[in-house]
Amino acid sequence: MSESAAQTESASELRCIGCGQTALPDRFRCEHCRDLLEIIYPPWEDRGPGGLSSVALKRLWRDRRSSLDPADQSGVWRFREILPEIARPQIITIREGNTPVYELPHCAKSAGVDQLYAKHQGMNPTGSFKDTGMTVAASFARQAGYKWVACASTGNTSASMAAYAARGGLHSLVLIPDGKISWSKLSQSLDYGAITCQLKTDFDGCVRVLNEVVQRMPVYLLNSVNPYRVEGQKTSAFELLEQFGWEPPDHIIVPGGNLANSSAIGKALREMKQLGLISRLPKISVIQAEGANPLVRTIRETGGEQLIAVHADTMATAIRIGNPASWKKALRVIRESGGTVEQVSEIEIAAAKAEIGAEGIGCEPASAVTLAGLKKLVTQGFVKPNESVVLVLTGHVLKDSEYTLKFHRGDLFTDSQFQKDADVLKPQQRAPITLEPSVEAVIELLQSAEK
Ligand code: F0G
Repeated sequence: MSESAAQTESASELRCIGCGQTALPDRFRCEHCRDLLEIIYPPWEDRGPGGLSSVALKRLWRDRRSSLDPADQSGVWRFREILPEIARPQIITIREGNTPVYELPHCAKSAGVDQLYAKHQGMNPTGSFKDTGMTVAASFARQAGYKWVACASTGNTSASMAAYAARGGLHSLVLIPDGKISWSKLSQSLDYGAITCQLKTDFDGCVRVLNEVVQRMPVYLLNSVNPYRVEGQKTSAFELLEQFGWEPPDHIIVPGGNLANSSAIGKALREMKQLGLISRLPKISVIQAEGANPLVRTIRETGGEQLIAVHADTMATAIRIGNPASWKKALRVIRESGGTVEQVSEIEIAAAKAEIGAEGIGCEPASAVTLAGLKKLVTQGFVKPNESVVLVLTGHVLKDSEYTLKFHRGDLFTDSQFQKDADVLKPQQRAPITLEPSVEAVIELLQSAEK
């Protein structure tokens, strides 16, 4: 087959998840029914992308690991056969992806499972999983001729977008909820040169404002309703399965906010099955904070029929989202894979985060809902002790050091409704110790610590 024939065959298009109508490449919602769009590829069951078999694809992706080409060095573009086509010179990459899988032996023991792993997406260039999606969507924006990109964010999307825009010569506009994102995330978007606006509202309010702005101005929206972001985020699951020798784990547990990441991971697994890369789907479960639990309520109270939006509040600010855009996509993934949803309390999140930290790995609070949720799923018997489990850790521990410091100093829950329950956290707290600059004082401390 000629190269151009292969390209035509692998050409992707945008399709509505509701009514199935196709849409123009730079749209976000269906013009007929307003549902979200997703990128689809020609059927892969008979013939893989570019005519490549599953064996050939696995070999090609592995071989690219030793290449010096920037696109091959990216953990996203290494998998470009399953991505929408972007002309090479338009690709903006900061060598995203390529994130490690770690064993978590202590967390496994406390959760009551034999095999527990973390896919640590906080090890991306800007410290969160957002980079894997942003490289694709920002590259598309540049290819489509946009000069401006924008997002509403709880902090990680904005940090990522600002970085990719800067690398790609685009201007970027960030809308964030005033006072409700971590300082580290805010500082990133400033440093990478975005125009950063703190709106006196929450994340959901920022989304409402931005949706209007992008309709009136030639600005490309990089929120997670953007279907190209979902495609990039998909690659983390391809990479995970490659790291598992293409043998699926029994469970994948994902934090839920706007619900794009769970949607992306589910889409990836569906496609891997179509391509013959894997033979069965892991169960994908989504965990939310009790104070930001629209998906949990939607499933429990309406059987998934209608979204129950909530007024969100949680110290895991990354997932402080009450009206998640991608709830239908996530619901489909949970149903298709046989997964479930669960919610966890602020105290459970704090305890789980400290446990992941004590493994020498760490993560931001939103990521820790996965371990807290796993504990509940084991207690309920949904996850069996002999099943293998992967937690998707979405953000780096340094993304919210204020939370971590407050936790260890013992004042994370001071004057909050959770204060009286916070005593259970004391054994995990390691407050910094102030000492005189004396050798004896340090030795004495060491000796007492050894006892
Ligand atoms: N974990 C982290 C660290 C996040 O930043 C987010 C979302 C999520 C989990 C939830 O992922 O939205 O795909 O379900 N952060 C967005 C942001 C909303 O603006 O940075 P989701």
